[in-house]
Amino acid sequence: MRIDVHVGSIDKIQADAIVLNAFQGATTLGGTTGSIDRALNGLLSEIITSGDFKGKVGETSVIYTRGALASPRVILVGLGKPEEFSVNVARRASAAASRKAQEMGLQHIASVVHGAGAGGLEPGDAAQAVAEGAALVTYRFSDYKSGNNKPSLEQFTLVELDPDKAEAERRGARSGEAIANAVCLARDLVNRPPNYLTPTMMAEMAQQMAQNHGKLQVKALDRDAITQLGMGALLGVAQGSAEPPRFIIVEHGPQDAPPVVIVGKGITFDSGGISLKPAVGMDEMKGDMAGAAAVLGAMQAVADLDLPLHVIALVPSTENLPGGSAVKPADVVRAMNGKTIEINNTDAEGRLVLADALSYAATLSPRPQAVIDLATLTGAIFIALGRAAAGLFSNNDALADRLYKAGEHTGERVWRLPLYPEYREIIDSDVADMKNSAGIARGPAGAAVGAMFIQEFVDNFPWAHLDIASMTYLTKASDLGPKGGTGYGVRLLVDLLRNWQPL
Ligand code: BES
Ligand code: ZN
Ligand code: ZN
Repeated sequence: MRIDVHVGSIDKIQADAIVLNAFQGATTLGGTTGSIDRALNGLLSEIITSGDFKGKVGETSVIYTRGALASPRVILVGLGKPEEFSVNVARRASAAASRKAQEMGLQHIASVVHGAGAGGLEPGDAAQAVAEGAALVTYRFSDYKSGNNKPSLEQFTLVELDPDKAEAERRGARSGEAIANAVCLARDLVNRPPNYLTPTMMAEMAQQMAQNHGKLQVKALDRDAITQLGMGALLGVAQGSAEPPRFIIVEHGPQDAPPVVIVGKGITFDSGGISLKPAVGMDEMKGDMAGAAAVLGAMQAVADLDLPLHVIALVPSTENLPGGSAVKPADVVRAMNGKTIEINNTDAEGRLVLADALSYAATLSPRPQAVIDLATLTGAIFIALGRAAAGLFSNNDALADRLYKAGEHTGERVWRLPLYPEYREIIDSDVADMKNSAGIARGPAGAAVGAMFIQEFVDNFPWAHLDIASMTYLTKASDLGPKGGTGYGVRLLVDLLRNWQPL
């Protein structure tokens, strides 16, 4: 989708539709919607006073202009109650209008910048949200379908009457476009069939991405290099598969500054290994690299926005399969930091690969100023929080607080859960330094036990773990996109990194 900003009056724009908005409970129409209403002889106010259009968030109505405007249609979209308006509502409203246009097969729509007028948002923030909403909702994954499955909606024009706001809105729209593209990269990675997204191919995609966007250095360590580093936990998970593992490192910004490190679980398919998962729903485990997808997407946006910050993404990637040489329950492996792990459940593999990634982060020089991992780690996080928020665990209140704020601001919410010391004994092992799971089905605080395990590999740096298992894959469409991969975490991370200050 092409996104541009036009300065002028929206009634003069020739598009397939123009998009206007109205708050819920509005009795008089103000701003652009009011002036277009007059040009349409009160058609818009009639739709509202009749009660046919209530102005709920995302509600849409299509009106035909019959020559009164340069465009043949108006899509009227609801902004909800004025007191509940926010940048998230602006994004959803823009998405709803774009979805409607897409369903009608329209190619070009021109929209007011929801929130930049009466909504009281900063014009750049509003433009970013409007651009994101349009680009995210029209996303389709059709790489493996025959025929033309391209989305119809090709062009989206933001229209601003006030030239004083235009420059900020241009910048906002460009950021929104870059961020939406990064989310779509993450969605593509999650949606791609696991035979087309092996660890080797994920490393190639990272190289490709770096080439196309510049400002990034990529290294992809192969099995030999991983062995050299002593990453016994990652190797343990990888040994049941014919596909070799990769440890992918993507870097941006000044290398002499302490980096912010983002880590993504990159299991390209999680069968459970010898602790095999049930057949029904196992296909969704192609999305067990959604943490990796989020950090790679975030790196693309970091490059496009050219953030003045040293950021390093780490992606430990492997399949988790029950091959003849697979790791077995009761096997013991040694992670890169020297700690030994009894693998009592081969399906708790995410924490194993993260153990080595966090051990690696501890060896970086200069030392990380913060490490944030994202992982589809446990089914238990769905029991705790549903699809409303990802689970957040952290050893640092300031970092946790910033992630919380980024979550509220982007709508990619996180909710903090505790790391009480009494969870630690749940993973005491008789033979090794720890075991990788409680060893009972649906035991207490399953997500926290996973986080507790990962914390064993945190070397004193500020750290946050996001359990995103319930946020990354949908079986029905949402406000911001189709079913399948959501790209959760990209917008959250980019918001955090754009506003980064030393902790
Ligand atoms: N990849 C799964 C977690 C998951 C579940 C992600 C559902 C997305 C949707 C993870 O590797 C796993 O299998 N976790 C186990 C941990 C248990 C064995 C301690 C789980 O949650 O059952
Ligand atoms: Zn698993
Ligand atoms: Zn997994």
